[in-house]
Amino acid sequence: MNLFDSHCHLEDERFAEDRAEVMARMEDAGVRRCILAGSDMDSSSRIVEMTRLHPHVYGVVGVHPHEAKTWTDECEARITQWVKEERIVGVGEFGLDYYYDLSPRETQREVFVKQLLLARKLDMPAVFHIRDAHGDILSLMKAHRNELPAGVIHCCSASVETAREYLDMGFYISFAGPVTFKNANKLLDVAQFVPDDRIMVETDSPYMAPVPMRGKRNEPTYVKYVAEKIAELRGIPAEEMAQLATANTCRLFRIPQEV
Ligand code: NI
Repeated sequence: MNLFDSHCHLEDERFAEDRAEVMARMEDAGVRRCILAGSDMDSSSRIVEMTRLHPHVYGVVGVHPHEAKTWTDECEARITQWVKEERIVGVGEFGLDYYYDLSPRETQREVFVKQLLLARKLDMPAVFHIRDAHGDILSLMKAHRNELPAGVIHCCSASVETAREYLDMGFYISFAGPVTFKNANKLLDVAQFVPDDRIMVETDSPYMAPVPMRGKRNEPTYVKYVAEKIAELRGIPAEEMAQLATANTCRLFRIPQEV
């Protein structure tokens, strides 16, 4: 298989003990490349380091809505510098998370708009994290309709109706472990609805391990379970699903199709 884990957190301390083994297993499983997503300045800086060391590791840098309260003007300057790196391919992950509410919502919205406009200014794709906040995200995106960057809705939790709005704005949609969960319900419809040229797969590891690994620490190798589940829903071979998702990831992030 030619799989690409479009969103994971290999820089996370939960991989501190066995990162090399995890990366070796990736290669064995045909997960040829991955994109690490920044959560704050600290993780983004570690991601930059990792992309310098590993040619098959790419990264995006930014401030997660949980960490929105840590945003300062300096963040903008650092992100602007980092995206000049060879394998830093976007801004993220950023968005709104009203499920955990770890930063005040007003701050989350301000920092979302700042990074949205920054991604556009830098001409870099954005990686959006949206949880229990599709209504506010859509209004903010629509308010900035003519200033939107390219981007992907990561770990999609949208309904078909909401997904259609994101697609109409030109965004890609990425699926993670939840599409394999027993209670996936509506998400199964969305995974069938997204067009072939806009769909991506990811693990979001170490979080959200897909069935049959649910409850364990997630790792990029398991992206195959996400691809297999979506392939089954769409009635195509898993190999073909992997190719589609990989081609889309490469197109959005301007990464060469061939490894
Ligand atoms: Ni993430």
